[in-house]
Amino acid sequence: MRLLILATLITVLRAVNATAVGSTAADPVLIPNNHPLIYFHGRWDASPGTWWGGSGLKLHVENLRTLSLHLGPHTTAPSASIGVSVDYQPFFQVNVSTGANIIPLIPAKKNNDDRKTSTVVRINAEGWQNNRVNLQSIQLNTGAKLLPYSTSKLTFQFIGDSLSAGQFLPQGVDQAWPFLTGEAFKAEHVVVAQPGAALSDIVSYGNEHGLSFQFFRTEDDGYFYTTDHNFTTPWNFARDVPAATHVVIHIGANDAAQNVTGNAFEQTYLNFVSRLRTIYHAQPIFVFTPWGWPNADGSIGQYLQGSYERIVHARHALGDRNVFLVNTTGWVTFADVFPDNQHPTVAGHQKIAGLFEAWLKDWGLRPESHWGTPFTA
Ligand SMILES: *[C@@H]1O[C@H](CO)[C@@H](O)[C@H](O)[C@H]1NC(C)=O
Ligand SMILES: *[C@@H]1O[C@H](CO)[C@@H](O)[C@H](O)[C@H]1NC(C)=O
Ligand SMILES: *[C@@H]1O[C@H](CO)[C@@H](O)[C@H](O)[C@H]1NC(C)=O
Ligand SMILES: *[C@@H]1O[C@H](CO)[C@@H](O)[C@H](O)[C@H]1NC(C)=O
Repeated sequence: MRLLILATLITVLRAVNATAVGSTAADPVLIPNNHPLIYFHGRWDASPGTWWGGSGLKLHVENLRTLSLHLGPHTTAPSASIGVSVDYQPFFQVNVSTGANIIPLIPAKKNNDDRKTSTVVRINAEGWQNNRVNLQSIQLNTGAKLLPYSTSKLTFQFIGDSLSAGQFLPQGVDQAWPFLTGEAFKAEHVVVAQPGAALSDIVSYGNEHGLSFQFFRTEDDGYFYTTDHNFTTPWNFARDVPAATHVVIHIGANDAAQNVTGNAFEQTYLNFVSRLRTIYHAQPIFVFTPWGWPNADGSIGQYLQGSYERIVHARHALGDRNVFLVNTTGWVTFADVFPDNQHPTVAGHQKIAGLFEAWLKDWGLRPESHWGTPFTA
């Protein structure tokens, strides 16, 4: 009986609301793209729109039931693939387009845990191309409210090429070893990795620039093939909040493929690290050696052998002891790569992430015991 009365009352209230002018309690909650409680990470242009796979946003929401992304005209057509994770569950793929996109929320609340009142939603572009998500606004259900998102104490900055960008993986960078490592440490993580690009600022496999230039730009190398944004802008590193606590570089495959000599590569790399040191003054920098290109006969195609050791020694000689060689020799075999392109498979990336996680623990880094933003109130 009481329920019936309540239902009637709600119907009356709804009727009143429907005729009311302006915003009412029953309206969905519209979050504009400049809302201060949206936590943006990675590289966003002024539209605002993403570049570089892995760039995205995180939300902490009270009473969340529905979420849709309203995207603008700079979104990749026909669609961009994004990874979505609710309450730190595995990322799943959603393809989004210009206009309204309902994001299916798979709640972590499995056991009717009524204490749970807030939800963390993490969203990022997955692809190394077709990765532009132009955010106009976010629509939440009536009664939902944005809460502050608190970042992890750890933030990784990864810099690389196809071997870090997750090229050829179904879920792109979300399945690549840098992303997996960041997740395993319950860290914030930003991946700036461009398939085909050299570190040297040369044209390589369709990339107009190398990472020693493009790393300092907002846009990835895809800008060159883009008609609505055919230019690059400097990245304002003050927007990386928090600043990276650990920097990881895995690059050189495309320099070698473009016949850049060891000497020239080492000089470019050392100049790059010097420039990084103007941003990351004292953070540990991890220099990966190549794991090489594994062949069917069990041999490994090596490149730039010795260069990485010399780069690290040169930094030490300059008094910078906070640069570390990560010797990945033997980490990847033919069983870990796609036979036709020798890039790591999904399982291969998991293996690499596991080995690097063990390496980091051995080095002295402990994973955080919990995320910066717990999802239960
Ligand atoms: C998203 O689009 C890609 C490319 O068109 C497709 O392969 C994939 O299956 C789609 N994913 C979903 C979840 O629909
Ligand atoms: C972008 O601009 C460059 C010149 O800077 C030009 O070579 C290229 O073709 C342009 N790309 C598109 C898609 O218009
Ligand atoms: C690199 O050198 C090899 C061997 O001399 C040659 O076959 C190849 O065409 C060169 N590649 C480039 C991009 O110059
Ligand atoms: C890297 O590891 C391999 C395999 O364990 C070893 O042979 C090589 O000497 C190591 N290189 C350096 C610079 O430590």
